[in-house]
Amino acid sequence: MTALEPRIRSIETSPCDVQTVEPVRLQSWPKRRRHPLHEFADFFAVRLNRLIGDHGWAKRIYWQALRQTEYSEVRMPVGDRPGLHGLRIAFLTDLHLGSYLDADALDLVLGEVALRRPDIVCFGGDLINTRASELDILDRPLRLLRPRFGFFAVPGNHDHHWHHDMGSWQDQLEALGVTVLNNHGVRIERGGDSFWLAGVDDLTDGRPDIRRALWGRDEGEPTVLLAHQPDHFLEAAKHRVDLTLSGHTHGGQVRIRGWAPISHTRHGYTAGRFRDGDSELYVSRGVGATILPLRVGARAEVPIVRCVAE
Ligand SMILES: [Fe+2]
Repeated sequence: MTALEPRIRSIETSPCDVQTVEPVRLQSWPKRRRHPLHEFADFFAVRLNRLIGDHGWAKRIYWQALRQTEYSEVRMPVGDRPGLHGLRIAFLTDLHLGSYLDADALDLVLGEVALRRPDIVCFGGDLINTRASELDILDRPLRLLRPRFGFFAVPGNHDHHWHHDMGSWQDQLEALGVTVLNNHGVRIERGGDSFWLAGVDDLTDGRPDIRRALWGRDEGEPTVLLAHQPDHFLEAAKHRVDLTLSGHTHGGQVRIRGWAPISHTRHGYTAGRFRDGDSELYVSRGVGATILPLRVGARAEVPIVRCVAE
């Protein structure tokens, strides 16, 4: 073992079921440089978002959109591993807490998730929208869920861009019982079988390292990767990741006859299921909204992954 290789350790809360490598703490990195026009558009969009988001009527509009949330089922074959059969992972991404999604609205969504009795609950990044304090909203609603194997999260570009200190972002989540998968993975064991659950830092605003996220995985072990941006799939497929779970696109958020003003993917991974060889990608339309409290042609979505033994 070299100095760089992580050591396997157990998570104290459930030492028999979950093993992980030594995690590395998240960091805030210098903001990436973008074209001045892009910066101006962002500045305008954020001001508009904050102006509208501080009004109760905007939250009420979004509440109506949330009532249409789809709790889709995503099947994940796990081969001859009966111990994993029926295991469920709820994947919540792009909450963008604060602007339109407040604690009451999140109660509504997490209450529905609780009815589906997930064994694992994962957050796919962009938990906050434009203010660090928005992470506080997660505190109360999270108590609605008690997944057996716990909560896991990866950061998104909004978390990196708008939180002044990603170390404290991680601390706050971990104080709520959420394990942050910053380029590392955990082994989930049930009934004598196991799979590897890994997560990477954000593609554009973080420092992703997929090799490190997969360190510790056994040969042939089924693998699920949390990666905020779906364009990570190209690399995930090369590393034999069975299922990559992503968000970031909001499914376009506002789609008119299939066209959306913002795509957030260079490879057409806007929403739904994609395949490359034996590797699959599922892009969730996510839960929250940015800029406007609207979803048109792109309902909010919480995929529930269900492991299926063959
Ligand atoms: Fe994002």
